[in-house]
Amino acid sequence: MERMDGEQKSSSWQDGQLSGAVYHGGPELGKVIVAAYERYLVSNPLHPDVFPTIRKMDAEVVAMCLRIYNHPSGAGTTTSGGTESIIMSVKTHRDWARTVKGITEPEIIIPASAHAAFDKAGDYMKVKVHQIPVDPETRMVDLAWVSRAINPNTIMLVGSAVNFPDGCMDDIEGLSALALKHNIGLHVDCCLGSFIVPFLDDAGFPTRPFDFRVKGVTAISCDTHKYGFAPKGSSVIMYRTPELRQYQYYVNPDWAGGVYASPSIAGSRPGALLAGAWAAMQFIGRDGYVASCRSIVGAAKSIENSIRTEIPELYVLGNPMASVVAFGSKDASLNILEVGDKMSKKGWHLNALSNPSAVHIACTRLTVPVVGQFIADLKDAIQEAKSAPSGTGNMVALYGLGNSSAVGPTMVGKLAAAFIDTLYLA
Ligand SMILES: Cc1ncc(COP(=O)(O)O)c(C=O)c1O
Repeated sequence: MERMDGEQKSSSWQDGQLSGAVYHGGPELGKVIVAAYERYLVSNPLHPDVFPTIRKMDAEVVAMCLRIYNHPSGAGTTTSGGTESIIMSVKTHRDWARTVKGITEPEIIIPASAHAAFDKAGDYMKVKVHQIPVDPETRMVDLAWVSRAINPNTIMLVGSAVNFPDGCMDDIEGLSALALKHNIGLHVDCCLGSFIVPFLDDAGFPTRPFDFRVKGVTAISCDTHKYGFAPKGSSVIMYRTPELRQYQYYVNPDWAGGVYASPSIAGSRPGALLAGAWAAMQFIGRDGYVASCRSIVGAAKSIENSIRTEIPELYVLGNPMASVVAFGSKDASLNILEVGDKMSKKGWHLNALSNPSAVHIACTRLTVPVVGQFIADLKDAIQEAKSAPSGTGNMVALYGLGNSSAVGPTMVGKLAAAFIDTLYLA
């Protein structure tokens, strides 16, 4: 991790040059989490009779999230991360729709900007996924298009608050009206918005309705392991009612090993992680989350403003509401992925986006002190990309290949699978 390979500066995560990835709550919190982890090292919530404290912490993590999302009488479970929360929600709505509405060929409707976890969930749960384009200006899902895509097999709509690519929020109230009209589910993905979006108002930033106060919302995913600062492996899936949550459970009364029941995909689960999540939430507290929202969103706004006012070559995608700012090139002669590659050489780890081609940064607490450096480096990177495009950096090579021909995406898919193979070369 400390490696410097000459060509490209390989930065350590502490220096704030990473987009997202490390959601650090500070050195003090680190010690608290390690202490909680150590104390509950061997615990497993699959055995609540043996580990009653862990059972209570599990319940309290969910209850705290339900309060934050303004629905204490709702229900939920913890999971291993945003992807599992989303997979669980798709299963829950699928089984609800089969039981209550007799739907046997279920479909969900997601914005093109929704996280890939919904496609993965569709794949795993055998649910068809319709992707709806987003408005090129607002980056919100096109509601008229969503409305046209709804059919008798539709079980659930999806909105993001906020989405991963550009940090914008869909029109949750508009989606809610459609969900109520057709008596279908509405999942609001707050995995990334987690402990930022619910505190925007208190931190003094503009916001829009997105939580359970919007009547048609049936489920919300919230990642404690992102801006909740819990250790990795921790997320919460919430439902409007305990009855809906029942469709998530797996229950097998006939198993040779005894009556088996578990709330989510895993059987045994790491109680130590739950203790870490519970401790993180207690330690940071509501005031701490408001303060971190203020500084993180403040950093994102300052990046957004600098791009809009000081960098004429770039534009900001949509109106980002929280921690993510995405930017593209206004000028056909400037390749934004080349800019991304030049930023990599300066030690930044940014994310490349496709459709449109863009780059984003997800701000964390670690980004806050280096905002000025980011803008200075970005200005330099643009000049370098204009005067000396290398055309050989990772972003240009990978995304260029994807767009190069009809077989480009297949090639990228094969490369990605081969990449996973290499990760397991011992
Ligand atoms: C909007 C959104 N949803 C879902 C996820 C998936 O979360 P995880 O990586 O914890 O599975 C992410 C991750 O970045 C995200 O940004």
